[in-house]
Amino acid sequence: MEIDRRAFIASLGGPAVVAMMDHEAKAEALEHYMEDKLDEMVAAQQPEKFPTVAEIEAQIETRPFRRGTGSVFTGQRGQNVKIITPMPAKPTLNDFFELRFAPANHVLQSATRAMKTGMSEEIILACLLHDCVLSLIKPDHGWWGAQLFEPYIPEKSAFAIRYHQTLRFYPDEEAGYEYPDQYYRIFGHDYQPPQYIADTYKMLKNHKWYMEPRLVTVNDLYAFDPNAKVSIEPFTDIIGRHFKQPKEGLGYDNSPSAHMWRTLARPDNPL
Ligand SMILES: [Fe+2]
Ligand SMILES: [Fe+2]
Repeated sequence: MEIDRRAFIASLGGPAVVAMMDHEAKAEALEHYMEDKLDEMVAAQQPEKFPTVAEIEAQIETRPFRRGTGSVFTGQRGQNVKIITPMPAKPTLNDFFELRFAPANHVLQSATRAMKTGMSEEIILACLLHDCVLSLIKPDHGWWGAQLFEPYIPEKSAFAIRYHQTLRFYPDEEAGYEYPDQYYRIFGHDYQPPQYIADTYKMLKNHKWYMEPRLVTVNDLYAFDPNAKVSIEPFTDIIGRHFKQPKEGLGYDNSPSAHMWRTLARPDNPL
């Protein structure tokens, strides 16, 4: 085993502390340090132990909120919520990205990947929007998300958003999509999707647009380079061509999903 001298000395409290130790104390400290490192190395090689559905259910009553709550309604990591920045009078999609969906790394990264791999503009747009509704609500986010964006985007993009949620549960080797470890973590390794998801999958398998939501899942990765700078900038043209920004602002155009935008804009409203 290789010993990082600096890390070892720091773990003991620094060079001054080490200088005061006798030979026996140093030898003992080194042995403990090596044991700990060895334990860490062994642990790193063990396959991750995923929870069961029952273990995940047992966590429900340990939280003051439900897991399906949209992120604008809860504090981050158990913290209190913060005062939310008001939206401009006629908010655009970019305003919502900046003020309600931020940091939006996951969707920006998905769309960047779709763009780099030369996918259609409808798919790039679907990737960019596919999980934005998680700020509002989490269960059935495919359906909620499609409904939120449907009045403003191409039919294919809405279809891709609606059904990516279902296809996430079903690997497709040929398309390059594997069942995600993240789902073993968040649903439990013994989770079975409910019947309506199984039925939706059956419908999609024979649908002429199967590949639209499938390609969203292919770009739906968690790996994220923390140094990569992602922004909405590269998607300005695609948004301009395919997102029908209402002149009254999102939330005020009387569309079937206008109320959803207003709820995102004012999550502190008591009614
Ligand atoms: Fe999703
Ligand atoms: Fe996603």
